[in-house]
Amino acid sequence: MTAPPRRTEPIRFFLPGPSYVTEETREAMTAPVVGHRSKAFREVYARLAAGLPEVFRTRRDVPVATGSATLGMELALVSTVRSSVLHLVAGAFSERWHAIGTALGRSADRLDVPWGQAIDPDLVHRALRRKRYEAVTVVHNETSTGVIQPLAEIAAAVREQSDALVVVDAVSSLGGAPVETDAWGLDVVLTGSQKALAAPPGLVPFTASERAEERAGAIEHRGWYTDLLRYLHDHGEGGTITTPAVSVAYALDRQLRRIAAEGIEARWRRHASLRDRVARWLDGRGGELGFAWASEALAAEPGVRSPTVSCLRPPPGLAAPELVARLAARGFTLGGGYGAWKATTFRIGHMGEVAEADLDDLFTAIEEATSES
Ligand SMILES: Cc1ncc(COP(=O)(O)O)c(C=O)c1O
Repeated sequence: MTAPPRRTEPIRFFLPGPSYVTEETREAMTAPVVGHRSKAFREVYARLAAGLPEVFRTRRDVPVATGSATLGMELALVSTVRSSVLHLVAGAFSERWHAIGTALGRSADRLDVPWGQAIDPDLVHRALRRKRYEAVTVVHNETSTGVIQPLAEIAAAVREQSDALVVVDAVSSLGGAPVETDAWGLDVVLTGSQKALAAPPGLVPFTASERAEERAGAIEHRGWYTDLLRYLHDHGEGGTITTPAVSVAYALDRQLRRIAAEGIEARWRRHASLRDRVARWLDGRGGELGFAWASEALAAEPGVRSPTVSCLRPPPGLAAPELVARLAARGFTLGGGYGAWKATTFRIGHMGEVAEADLDDLFTAIEEATSES
């Protein structure tokens, strides 16, 4: 039997990534660094290889690259798209994916929806009727806006209308919101260790469907560090392609045990209730604190609000960076606004190991900070 997770210490760190890393998981990183081809590390890697598919909900392998999550975004495009790709753009990270497609010299089209809104699967359908694409990229959870996209419906629309691969950034959703890689027919899914998995940054677990693997095989130049097939091959041999972030692997190993003990579906439910807690607090206290009426202060449309990050507009007359600074003075770390929303929003990351009691303490601090003259 796996031991139940130790009670998490109070959390005051609410960045939407990297997220808070518990003391226990930090301690796991103090184990001696070993050679990555040693028996000791191969055992650690074998546990990651066994545990990650359960979190990704796939029967396929989940290799682990060392880098930041953006490596996964680039790797997925280099390895599966020869020329034409459609990027669904609804915030800063989906903008980045389009920028990567362009930087790689691909014919990178974009389908834009306004920030804060969901991507309508019908629009995707129509775009795919107009032109053939090898892949469609989707950022499942737009960390910049606090929107979780209807990924299952988008993937269904892509598959119904075309043979384009569905390539997904699940960086700030995986481990905190349902991601059903196999059941939803997702071809590539990538994440980072530092978000809802709640390990430090440095590792990029990803999947590739059989279709994605076949497409990669037909692309001649996939780079070296970005070659999806190299990762799959070496993963099959029980290891990584180069020296991995060994200590972060120890931390991820510890986190996977914690996630298994909580249960992935229970973890999704906990995150959903954190999202609902934010809306309930705004409904109860937001108006008197000067926020826009009730949960209207949330920048994401109702129905697609993210379980891992809430993006809020501060009360009129109080700039978002000022509010974030006042909270920092009280010992609470929040995310500022991102990209085009930098000055007008702030973000509460409630991903990883955050509990409702932590949010309650944060709300008290926000109540004090907004009342400060
Ligand atoms: C949705 C999403 N995609 C990609 C990234 C990029 O991650 P990294 O900074 O690890 O490259 C982030 C980081 O915040 C993100 O939130």
